[in-house]
Amino acid sequence: MKCLLVLVLLAAACWAQEEVLPLAEPCDPEACQLPACRCSGTDIPGGFAPRDTPQFVLLTFDHGVNVVNIETYRNLIYNRLNSNGCPAGTTYYINHEYTDYTIVNELYNQGLEIALHSVSHQTPDTYWKEATYDDMKLEFGDQRLQMSHFANIPIDAIKGLRIPFLQMAGNASFQVIADYGLEYDCSMPTVNQINPGLWPYTLDYASTQDCVIPECPTASIPGVWVLPMVSWVDLDGFTCSMVDSCFSVPSLTDEDAWFEFTVTNFERHYTGNRSPFGFYVHEWYIASYPAIYRALARFLDMVNNLPDAFMVNSAEVIDWVKDPVPVNEYKSRPCRTWTPTTCPRQSCGPLTSDHNEWGAFWMQICNTCPNTYPWLGNPLGE
Ligand SMILES: *[C@@H]1O[C@H](CO)[C@@H](O)[C@H](O)[C@H]1NC(C)=O
Ligand SMILES: [Zn+2]
Repeated sequence: MKCLLVLVLLAAACWAQEEVLPLAEPCDPEACQLPACRCSGTDIPGGFAPRDTPQFVLLTFDHGVNVVNIETYRNLIYNRLNSNGCPAGTTYYINHEYTDYTIVNELYNQGLEIALHSVSHQTPDTYWKEATYDDMKLEFGDQRLQMSHFANIPIDAIKGLRIPFLQMAGNASFQVIADYGLEYDCSMPTVNQINPGLWPYTLDYASTQDCVIPECPTASIPGVWVLPMVSWVDLDGFTCSMVDSCFSVPSLTDEDAWFEFTVTNFERHYTGNRSPFGFYVHEWYIASYPAIYRALARFLDMVNNLPDAFMVNSAEVIDWVKDPVPVNEYKSRPCRTWTPTTCPRQSCGPLTSDHNEWGAFWMQICNTCPNTYPWLGNPLGE
C-alpha cells in the first residue's frame, strides 16, 4: 500500500513538470516526406535539376516600421513586378516598439509579408540565450495576437519569426512556433552549407545545420519549418548572415562595387543548387548609404528581369518547398492573393507603461486605443 502511494506521488510530480520533448533522431527520408516533413539538406525539393528550379530571392527588413522607413519601402518595393507579372515580395520582421501599426496595415495591403521580431527586443542578448518557453510565448505567441489586433490584419497571415540578434534559445522558440499557430523560423544562419546552400526543412528529425549562435534546437518538433539564413561571403572570405554585418565590404560609396558584391553572392545560389538567396538587412543601412541603395535597386531590377528568379515573401518559399513544381509551371501559376483589410486609424496617447514608469508612449493603430502601453504579459494593453 505504501509503495503504491509513493508511485502515485511520483507520477503526479512528473505530470506537473514541463513536458519533456523527445530528442530528434537522425532523419529517415522514407518516413519524412513532403508536404509535412523534410530532412535538412542541400538536395533540391522535388528532385529537380537546378535549371528547372525557381531561384527565390528574399529581401527582408528587421525592426519597427514607421514613418521614418516606410518611404524606402514605398520607393524600392511597391509596384515592382517579377518576370511572371506577379508583384515582388518582401518580408518584415517587426518588433513592437517604434512600430506604427497603420503602416504595418499598409504593407500587408501591398501583399507583403508581416512577420515577428518580438515584443521587447530587449538587450542584452543573453536574455534571448536564456529565454524559456514562457519567455518566448510572451515575446512571439502574444506578439502574433498583438500584431493582428493593432494592425487589423488576419492572424493567419502571420507565419514567421526572427529572434533578435539571431540568438537561439534551444527548443523554446520552435515549441512556441508549434503551439501558437506559426509556421517557420528565419533566424538560423548556416556558414557550412552555403555552396551548395541549405534548403528549408522541418524539425521532425535531427538537423544537420551548423549551430552558429547556440543553443540550437535538438528536440523533435514536428511540422515546424526552418528557413536557414544561408550566409554571404565577404571580400576577405569571411561569412556574414545579415548584409549589414559583413565586415570586409566594398566602399560604402561605390555603387558598382556593391552591385558586383551582391551579384557574386547571388551567383553562388543561381549557378549552384538554387537554394533561396537572402538579402537580409536593416532599412537604416540602405537609407544611410545611397550607393548601396542604388546597387540594391539595380540588383532587384536584374532579378525582376530573369525568367527564372523571383522576389517573394519568405512564406511563399515554404509553400513552394512543401509542394515543389518546376519553374515553367511555377511561372504560369496565379499570383499570391490576400484579403484586403481597412485601417480605422487611431492615434493613442500618452499611454503609461509598467515596464518604463518614466515614459509616455504614443501609438498609431487600426483599432480602438489600449488603456496602457502594450508590453510583455499585456500585449493588447488592457
Ligand atoms: C531540447 O530538447 C532536447 C530533447 O528533450 C533536450 O535534450 C535538449 O537539452 C533541449 N535543449 C535545450 C537547450 O533545452
Ligand atoms: Zn533586431
